[in-house]
Amino acid sequence: MEKLGQDLDSKQYWADVANQYSDALENDYHKHRLEVIRSLIPEELFQPGKQIFDFGCGDAILFPWFLETGGNIEGIDIAPEMIQIGQQRLTSWGFDSSLIQVADVNYLKQIGSASLDGLLSFNVLAYLTDEEELIFYQEASRIVKPGGYLIVTHSNELFDLFSLNHYTVEFFKDYFVTDALQHAKLSSLLTHSEGSSKAAYNVRENPLSYHHKLKKFNFKELKQGFINFHILPPPLLQDKTYPSTLNVDEGDRWKLMFMCSTFGSCAIRL
Ligand SMILES: C[S@@+](CC[C@H](N)C(=O)[O-])C[C@H]1O[C@@H](n2cnc3c(N)ncnc32)[C@H](O)[C@@H]1O
Repeated sequence: MEKLGQDLDSKQYWADVANQYSDALENDYHKHRLEVIRSLIPEELFQPGKQIFDFGCGDAILFPWFLETGGNIEGIDIAPEMIQIGQQRLTSWGFDSSLIQVADVNYLKQIGSASLDGLLSFNVLAYLTDEEELIFYQEASRIVKPGGYLIVTHSNELFDLFSLNHYTVEFFKDYFVTDALQHAKLSSLLTHSEGSSKAAYNVRENPLSYHHKLKKFNFKELKQGFINFHILPPPLLQDKTYPSTLNVDEGDRWKLMFMCSTFGSCAIRL
């Protein structure tokens, strides 16, 4: 996959990789990711009549979960290519293809206040600019009804304590090392730049402190889940299959915060 940089915006990136991403949705990584996401969604959201919105819905992979149980779900995505694939899928499953459309974060401003039981956004918030991210949380606070849920996944900033990639180096520079010479030494450690082959994220979150951000927008975090469990730091990991995080012993669960590159969060609107 091409790296997201200053000269390649997220819309163009997702336009380029839409088909590749959609085909890959059947693989083990996505199966586990979707299992964790499912475990984060409160059962009540699968009841008939619930109003759900999926921000950055991609190819609408989650839609059958809600539509098959009589719920209502709509979504938007910034990439026309993803929406096109999603609309074809919805039609092939016998659902209305107009449930999803091409739009950006400003679309949320059209949704009625306190009208949603659930707002979802999986593997999307990382790509937002700072301005878009602020709109997302302000609107989330307005459109999710009290007692409704915000369920999202994030690129895990704490993973940088465990891995060795360009984010790790930035993490140590930001939080621990102030001296310029040491900065250079840190950068030279990066012989294996695991992270540099991946899309760069603008927004990354720390699972230990994310609840503070949610609180500012009137949400209380109820639960977290972890995805992409690296049993060894990435440079040492030969086999890129990630064990399930769902059955890890209670005493070992804290390690997931460091050893998983993605985390999910379920929060309730206060
Ligand atoms: C990793 S895919 C996730 C798709 C889907 N949520 C899923 O879990 O399978 C990221 C999606 O975010 C969309 N996206 C990226 N930047 C966006 C933005 N600024 N506004 C809305 N959607 C965006 C992309 O087009 C892409 O479909």
